[in-house]
Amino acid sequence: MHTIVLLSIAAVSGVTGNNRVSATVGNSSVLVCSLKSNTTLVTWKISPKTGGFCTLGYRADQNKTDRTNCSDSVNWKFRPDQDPALEIRQVGIVHEGNYTCEVVATEGNFHRTYHLTVLVPPRLTLHCDDHGNPVCEAEAGKPPAQISWDLESNSTLREEVHDDGTVTVVSTCAAHGTNVTNTICIVSHPAGNQSKSVSCHPSKNSTWALHCVISLASVLSLLFLLAVFHLYTFCDSRTMRNQYRPRHLPPTELSGPISNSAPEQRN
Ligand SMILES: *[C@@H]1O[C@H](CO)[C@@H](O)[C@H](O)[C@H]1NC(C)=O
Ligand SMILES: *[C@@H]1O[C@H](CO)[C@@H](O)[C@H](O)[C@H]1NC(C)=O
Ligand SMILES: *[C@@H]1O[C@H](CO)[C@@H](O)[C@H](O)[C@H]1NC(C)=O
Ligand SMILES: *[C@@H]1O[C@H](CO)[C@@H](O)[C@H](O)[C@H]1NC(C)=O
Ligand SMILES: *[C@@H]1O[C@H](CO)[C@@H](O)[C@H](O)[C@H]1NC(C)=O
Ligand SMILES: *[C@@H]1O[C@H](CO)[C@@H](O)[C@H](O)[C@H]1NC(C)=O
Ligand SMILES: *[C@@H]1O[C@H](CO)[C@@H](O)[C@H](O)[C@H]1NC(C)=O
Ligand SMILES: *[C@@H]1O[C@H](CO)[C@@H](O)[C@H](O)[C@H]1NC(C)=O
Repeated sequence: MHTIVLLSIAAVSGVTGNNRVSATVGNSSVLVCSLKSNTTLVTWKISPKTGGFCTLGYRADQNKTDRTNCSDSVNWKFRPDQDPALEIRQVGIVHEGNYTCEVVATEGNFHRTYHLTVLVPPRLTLHCDDHGNPVCEAEAGKPPAQISWDLESNSTLREEVHDDGTVTVVSTCAAHGTNVTNTICIVSHPAGNQSKSVSCHPSKNSTWALHCVISLASVLSLLFLLAVFHLYTFCDSRTMRNQYRPRHLPPTELSGPISNSAPEQRN
């Protein structure tokens, strides 16, 4: 019964050739290998794009596994004597590359190569610029995200490529000084589509407002400086007067009212 199940699985998954697979960063990915009833040797050969070739092997006659240079996140999914599938846990951009499974069985030799692409979902942010135009940003996506608007208007696109291979895409929709209510930005990406809406109002002339704020701020700071200067000169002249006060005068001139009021409270 068991062998029949195994054989039928082998018939379904026993395809050889090249396969494109993709995984979202942070998820785990399982790559299956042709399952043959009488496997003597299984080898996974892993060549990441960024280098660091590694292998994972299993010998059925000795029931032994070995691994060279593979990181801990790359391992057999279960037990190689039962299923030679490979599991990549916590997929990262460094895992992108080719994964080849080679099987030596009594029925013959089989191999299967996977080309693993790692997807990084972009972070979507939406805001209004100084002119009241909606700006949609799909940050650090891999591959670059596609941005579209539900508004019938022209938009400008800007792309920024980062060192890790991710791309930030920024689309600015031309509102032409009109009010924009609940316009939707749609970000299409193989790791999942996202959308958000925003409302923008054309600003009253923003440069004029900016000049206004700057002028006001300078006037206020000038007033403040003047006040500080006056206070300083005022205090200065007072201390001068105190210093040149004749010695024989009682020093209670300033504190006079306080010393006068104290005895009154006692009565
Ligand atoms: C990948 O992980 C995200 C959460 O990080 C989860 O929502 C998603 O369903 C996972 N995808 C797969 C294919 O497991
Ligand atoms: C992966 O395989 C493809 C096609 O066979 C090849 O062009 C590419 O150079 C390989 N990449 C690595 C990192 O081995
Ligand atoms: C192979 O070895 C493992 C322990 O390393 C054992 O659990 C398993 O039963 C063995 N399989 C066979 C087919 O002998
Ligand atoms: C494993 O990595 C070491 C250094 O990290 C290197 O010297 C060695 O050649 C690698 N082995 C294989 C089989 O790639
Ligand atoms: C978009 O721009 C093109 C040329 O730049 C212009 O002909 C067209 O009228 C614009 N469309 C809208 C909706 O503004
Ligand atoms: C935009 O909306 C504001 C109120 O939200 C309104 O005062 C203004 O007249 C509107 N402008 C246009 C061009 O529709
Ligand atoms: C994402 O949107 C595109 C069109 O922009 C569509 O072809 C694709 O099926 C969508 N994907 C998902 C997962 O909804
Ligand atoms: C707004 O400022 C721009 C310069 O930035 C100027 O060309 C335009 O005429 C101003 N509009 C109004 C209504 O003042």
